[in-house]
Amino acid sequence: MDLVLKKIDISELKVGMTVEKMDRPWLQHPFLTNRKKITSQRQIDRLREFHIDEVYIYLEPGEEEAWTAVPLPAPAAPLPEPVADLLPLPEKETPPSFLREETASAIPQEVPFEEEIRTARLIQNEARTIVQDVMEDIRKGNDIEIGRVEQVVDRMIDSIFRNREALVSISRIKGYDEYTYVHSLDVCVLALTFGSYLNLDLEDLQKLGIGAILHDTGKMRIPTSILNKPGPLSEKEYQEVKNHPYYSYEIMAKTGGIPEEAKLIALQHHERRNGKGYPIGLREDEIHIFSQLTAIIDVYDAVTTNRSYQRAMSAHRGMQILFELGQTDFNMTLVERFIQCLGIYPVGTVVELDTSEIGIVVSVNSQVLLRPKVMLLYANRLRPLAQPKTVDLNEISRNGGGYPRSILRVLSREQWDIDVDRYLLNIENLPGQE
Ligand SMILES: [Fe+2]
Repeated sequence: MDLVLKKIDISELKVGMTVEKMDRPWLQHPFLTNRKKITSQRQIDRLREFHIDEVYIYLEPGEEEAWTAVPLPAPAAPLPEPVADLLPLPEKETPPSFLREETASAIPQEVPFEEEIRTARLIQNEARTIVQDVMEDIRKGNDIEIGRVEQVVDRMIDSIFRNREALVSISRIKGYDEYTYVHSLDVCVLALTFGSYLNLDLEDLQKLGIGAILHDTGKMRIPTSILNKPGPLSEKEYQEVKNHPYYSYEIMAKTGGIPEEAKLIALQHHERRNGKGYPIGLREDEIHIFSQLTAIIDVYDAVTTNRSYQRAMSAHRGMQILFELGQTDFNMTLVERFIQCLGIYPVGTVVELDTSEIGIVVSVNSQVLLRPKVMLLYANRLRPLAQPKTVDLNEISRNGGGYPRSILRVLSREQWDIDVDRYLLNIENLPGQE
């Protein structure tokens, strides 16, 4: 019997029904996919918060005749479960008070960016020392001090809960680096920021954070002469590099007390949905969702970091690369969500506005990705401002003339010789904050 797709009012949506589609792109509703089985009243409330008044569900013909029926062929195959189930996570009996109840993007930050950035800097420094020590211990054949790792992951999660942009902004301030520990930490910060954006609960964030921070520990077993080789690797050397996910898994398994999901992140972070990854060549939903998420971030961090063999791409270009890989290697919905989380113009991007002004993105508006806050540094390409001034591109002009400023294009920070890091690190001391 053919099912029919019916549009129903949100007031008629009940727990247990499956929403097949919504009249909104994914950017404008709280779920990872347009198709979603409703498992709690909270999910219905969240749809209302996003002003979604009507949804489509499948019904057998004759059922609820009052609704307007739109005949359609049988429903498409369901999404792979790990993806379909990721958002939102099942409700906890009694969620801890600090857990976000709604979509993270809709929640005001508890602490302003300018305030949290000081704490975030301290956490980042502490985390660097710990991750460096952990890597050194592994190189020497010692055990991982997992307690220290857990502690620092918890501190990072706390910071992200207070303000989701501060820690990630600091970690995006990139120098030239070849070090596994720097990359591991940056991947961890990005994974936790993204995880918090996806409303993962605390326990899952901890698993994700530990997995992300330790995902490349296996590289400590590979000779540095291979890891840092400037030229192309021989086939034998490449095979050895491709063993590092196994080594990471082994190191973590030997440590004991590390959650299985965290170990899977290490084992699977080079697997790809098209089966062309390594070490096993898993496909699609054979790869744990946390591993898929970390893989996206691993690539993003790699292409936006200066290495001996490559000049860092801008964050903006990094996003484009992810979009391209979303067609083949990654789950496109996750890629889109990641871009939504970091912003199309992530913090630190140098932009030129339609007013000819030039500045740095200092805060992303998750609701309106094209309209972040920008710290203006130049009145135009020839004239620097006497003092930096921060403006919100989402503010409409007072005389009703629309937006006074919009982003025209992304500029290369090197070409403009703008010391983005200095401005971001000193943001709390700068005048002109609006
Ligand atoms: Fe890796």
